Amino acid sequence: MRISIFGLGYVGAVTGACLASHGHSVVGVDINQQKVEDFSSGYPSIIEPGMEALLATAKEKGLLKGTQDCCEAIRESDVSFVCVGTPSSVSGALDLSYVRQVSEEIAGAIRKKGTKHYLILRSTMLPGSTEKLMEVYFKDLLGSALLEVYYFPEFLREGTAIKDFEKPALVVVGTSDGLPPSPEMEPIFGLQVEVVKWCTAELIKYGCNAFHALKISFANEIGRLGKELGLDALSVMRILCRDTKLNISSAYLRPGNPFGGSCLPKDVRALTDCARRNGVSMPIIENLISSNQQHLSLMLKLVESSGCREVVILGLSFKSNTDDLRESPMVEVAQILLGRGYEVRIFDPLLNVSALLGSNKRLIDVRMPHLASLLKPTLSEAVGERGMIIASQPCVPLDELKKLVREEHQILDVNGWTELQVLPAQYHGFCWELN
Ligand SMILES: NC(=O)c1ccc[n+]([C@@H]2O[C@H](COP(=O)([O-])OP(=O)(O)OC[C@H]3O[C@@H](n4cnc5c(N)ncnc54)[C@H](O)[C@@H]3O)[C@@H](O)[C@H]2O)c1
Repeated sequence: MRISIFGLGYVGAVTGACLASHGHSVVGVDINQQKVEDFSSGYPSIIEPGMEALLATAKEKGLLKGTQDCCEAIRESDVSFVCVGTPSSVSGALDLSYVRQVSEEIAGAIRKKGTKHYLILRSTMLPGSTEKLMEVYFKDLLGSALLEVYYFPEFLREGTAIKDFEKPALVVVGTSDGLPPSPEMEPIFGLQVEVVKWCTAELIKYGCNAFHALKISFANEIGRLGKELGLDALSVMRILCRDTKLNISSAYLRPGNPFGGSCLPKDVRALTDCARRNGVSMPIIENLISSNQQHLSLMLKLVESSGCREVVILGLSFKSNTDDLRESPMVEVAQILLGRGYEVRIFDPLLNVSALLGSNKRLIDVRMPHLASLLKPTLSEAVGERGMIIASQPCVPLDELKKLVREEHQILDVNGWTELQVLPAQYHGFCWELN
């Protein structure tokens, strides 16, 4: 393919060198004259293992060219990558001025060229940025089918960038409608591709980087506490990572219910207290309880904004397949809503109040002595004629709900039980919009 790369920094130079090593011809464009000269002469302008050899071979094969003329680069290519910088502005906001500038130039050049062009945006941009750029600079081109645009987030790491390019950790392609890219793009994207809409791809990139930062800082917080307690936190984290079922896995990485139960809130509080007493700052771990509380508040706000005065809670315990009510977020939700004057009906097939023992029984006696009257013996009595159904757990068969739920109900899906959309009631995802 004939490819142009806009921005010959770390991402652009590596992308150009790797694409040339796959046999594509590559025109590099940069506002920095020196970088353009280096690229066209086959010299790496960045330190990155393997770049020298890749560029030298590509140069020998006549696959590299550099220019500062955008029209020339667009004319001599069918596919353009945008890899310009997206730095932080003084306030911390994302500065998209380089992307805007290059977009305007590229749009003008494609109009001049007048034949089909594929534009691949790789610069890291916040959700909605691609859409906005299209609206401002490319609207007429998209309408005329002269242009296809992909948001293709980059996941390479400096220092292992070429290896990462060849074997990416993740390949995500954002398209305007979330449908697969044109088959002509297969040499670029490969076959193992997660295809989503532009803005979803944009958020995935930020999600990944925030997650990496979170992991590093979490390990460092455990390390700081370990050091203060005279422990080897390297071993602690090494062994923690041996658990690939619950720790290094997709477990607990789905938006939904706040956490609760007999262990997580108690243990997070204890660890935080221990850190405080030892003079160790652990802001991430310290803020977990507050983050969880914010999540619960959102649930209450959504109930409030629905306008319903009757609320049906499906699943009261803190997770599926248990009758443990200790620190169950739904107990708190029920209590707060009752206090605010809502009519609350609860159904949980695993809960039999008369059979509850020990701390569960104490909890109900002290905090919700009237729980028995809210717990309905049948799903039908709980669902009733109307109201907001908070589906905390998929604790009843969907077919049963289909028989009972009416248009007068609304559903707040807290668990990612998206099949609930088939019900006649209005569906609200707790912290997601399904599209
Ligand atoms: N560096 C990384 O490891 C990495 C990894 C993944 C994603 N990203 C993202 O990729 C993007 C690029 O990052 P980078 O580290 O390569 O940036 P960089 O600053 O090293 O390079 C950006 C290049 O763009 C050039 N440029 C600016 N305006 C231009 C224009 N109008 N036309 C042509 N060139 C122009 C600059 O001169 C510079 O050489 C950023 O959005 C970054 O967040 C970076």
